[in-house]
Amino acid sequence: MEYRIEDKKLKDISADIEITFIIDKNFDHKWVEDKKELEFLNFKAEAEESIFLNSSKRAYIGVGSLDHDDIRVAAAKAFKQISNLQAKSAKIGLYIKDCPVTNTKALIEGFELGSYKFDKYKSKKEKSPIEKIIISTEEYGDKNFSTDILKRAIKEAKIVSESVNYVRDLVNTPPDELYPEILAQKAAEVAKEVEIECKIYDENYLKEEKMEAFLAVARASRHKPRMIHLSYKPKNAKAKVVFIGKGLTYDSGGLSLKPSDYMVTMKSDKSGACAVIGIIQAAKRLNLPVEIHAIASAAENMIGGDAYKPDDILRAKNGKTIEVRNTDAEGRLVLADTLCWAQEKIKPDYIFDLATLTGACVVALGEYTIGVMGNNKDLKEKVLKAANLSGELAAELPFNKYLPKLLKSSVADICNIASSRYGGAITAALFLNEFIEKEYKDKWIHLDIAGPAFVEKDWGSNPSGASGAGVRLAIKWLQKEFCSTDHNKGE
Ligand code: BES
Ligand code: ZN
Ligand code: ZN
Repeated sequence: MEYRIEDKKLKDISADIEITFIIDKNFDHKWVEDKKELEFLNFKAEAEESIFLNSSKRAYIGVGSLDHDDIRVAAAKAFKQISNLQAKSAKIGLYIKDCPVTNTKALIEGFELGSYKFDKYKSKKEKSPIEKIIISTEEYGDKNFSTDILKRAIKEAKIVSESVNYVRDLVNTPPDELYPEILAQKAAEVAKEVEIECKIYDENYLKEEKMEAFLAVARASRHKPRMIHLSYKPKNAKAKVVFIGKGLTYDSGGLSLKPSDYMVTMKSDKSGACAVIGIIQAAKRLNLPVEIHAIASAAENMIGGDAYKPDDILRAKNGKTIEVRNTDAEGRLVLADTLCWAQEKIKPDYIFDLATLTGACVVALGEYTIGVMGNNKDLKEKVLKAANLSGELAAELPFNKYLPKLLKSSVADICNIASSRYGGAITAALFLNEFIEKEYKDKWIHLDIAGPAFVEKDWGSNPSGASGAGVRLAIKWLQKEFCSTDHNKGE
């Protein structure tokens, strides 16, 4: 989609159709020119309610407030409302609360994220004729800011949205088309495109590195595991940040086989790995002043004569032994070894892991919210703030001194499942915490994205299927933490 900023009044811009937001049911704004007709049609302008009037060629969208996420969701809704019309161009004014950059970005993200479709496997593809959206600066014509700032905002929003949409494509791809070797190929393509380093490690390397837990999970699959390491090293980087992603290209549960209903959608168990690829891609394209490492640990959790078993005892890279009591708690095994590897080899200032780790997180927070866990209160708060500003939902799930006891094993150092079924998202994170060295305790954040990564109905600016969860949150955190421009701090 092409976006153009025009320093003209909305009514003086020519376009096939116009999009008008009705904020908080206020029909008295000058852009709401069809007030009488809308009332006649009983249009209430409730949040996300929309209508297209052919007589005036205007689409009206109800928007709860001028809050950036309401604008983002409204833009996604607007796109859906107009996408089937025979219109090539649309015009819209800016709806701004405090900072013009924040809502301009939200508007573009709404259009970009809301127009995503996964139709690769559909014989009949329905492409929207809309090619161009023209944005009028009318509302801010007399205020002192340059359109260059808005152009920059549009560019940044497009970069982030393109990465989110790329992650959605990867996650939505079926498991027999996207297995570890293919994910590695895709990552290499991204690295080539944005000019960052890419190293791909196969199982021989994992053996050399004594990553027995990771290898055990992968063993029964005909698709061999890969650990994918992308790195972006700008000059004068302000910090070194590692993003680790759980990349189960399929999670059947292994010998602790999932029931059929729970197995469907488990192609999405690679969402963390795909997200870290998207994060580094966007970070490089935004020239963020941070050294970033994205490590995507890819494996397939299958059954077979060679499968790892409940009762096995595995030795992780840091020497700790793990009693396996459930082969469906496999993500934490892959991540344990990867976390050890990243701490030892990269010595980061911050270490994030993103994982569709537990169904318990979805039970706790619902489908739309990311679970944020870790030992550092300040860091968790900053991550929650960044999430909120990015348009992603996140909430903290707190550690306490009693829950770690549930992971005790009578035969090994730790057990891969807790002895209680309550608090499963936290006990999974506490398992990972066992593989975080002392000096990294306060540098680590665990994001359980099991809820929002893949939802089989559309919500907000997300389509049904993969959402690209974690990308916007991570980019916003990086910008807030390490970029000095007012806009990124102030948003
Ligand atoms: N990949 C699943 C978690 C999951 C569930 C992701 C639902 C997305 C949606 C994970 O590997 C898993 O199976 N976890 C188990 C852990 C249990 C055996 C302790 C779970 O959540 O049931
Ligand atoms: Zn599992
Ligand atoms: Zn899993």
